[in-house]
Amino acid sequence: MTEDEALAAARRLLRESRRVLVLAGAGLSRESGIPTFRGEDGLWRRFRPEELATPGAFARMPEQVWDWYRWRWERVREARPHAGHRALARLAMCRRTTVANQNVDGLLEEAYAAAGADGRGVMAVHGTLRRAHCQRCGASREMGELPAAGVPACSCGGRLRPSVVWFGEELDPLHLARLAEEGEEADLALAVGTSALVWPAAGVLPRVRRRGRTVVVVNPDRDAAGPGDLWLEGGAARLLPALVEDLDGEDA
Ligand code: OAD
Repeated sequence: MTEDEALAAARRLLRESRRVLVLAGAGLSRESGIPTFRGEDGLWRRFRPEELATPGAFARMPEQVWDWYRWRWERVREARPHAGHRALARLAMCRRTTVANQNVDGLLEEAYAAAGADGRGVMAVHGTLRRAHCQRCGASREMGELPAAGVPACSCGGRLRPSVVWFGEELDPLHLARLAEEGEEADLALAVGTSALVWPAAGVLPRVRRRGRTVVVVNPDRDAAGPGDLWLEGGAARLLPALVEDLDGEDA
């Protein structure tokens, strides 16, 4: 199948769908300048984050964990949404769309806000890098307000931590419930820029497929992507706008 044929087939399916589930991963934000986790220039290779992104690592070496998150935050604060983020926001204006967003950068949320799309459609299943909260009292702070070095402290004397979900931590039960519901109800799934390796979020794709519904994959590397039925092989910034370009808003 050529790319044009795959795009035409995916557009047809989107037009026929009323309810769309999107599983978004680090590849969605790569063209905004944020490295992915796995693959050639992945954060995981250079920094071994699997040793840092755990509650145990934070208890043992909070300064190193904070240095790493500050390094990531510096990239995120300079980044802007690209045409692919904007295309997903446009999709949300045309179809009932739920995004399970594994990205913690907030760029998709920014694109939604700029487009006037309903931000409740985006679940930040792995939390956000834009905020930190106190481990003791739960008070929340903007990342940009925190000191540039060391382990930030709360006024209650507790230790602040980034508001991301670490390995070994549970996802928000409301997110889990919505994922389960979309697995049963979505007419179509889009897997954008994800290796679909990290569960439970990735588990929504096999659920959709079991019901005979199509998973459209947007990813330049088939071998680094999860399961799918229809392949759009390329970057999200080019292919997502092409996918939604002539979608109408009648079903919004
Ligand atoms: P990964 O780094 O595992 O996968 C990135 C995916 O993006 C790969 O499949 C790439 O082929 C693809 N990709 C690269 N460039 C792309 C582009 N321009 N357009 C589209 N796709 C592109 O990232 P995730 O699947 O998000 O969790 O990883 C899932 C979770 O693993 C992350 O949320 C994080 C990590 O552990 C936590 O921190 C809890």
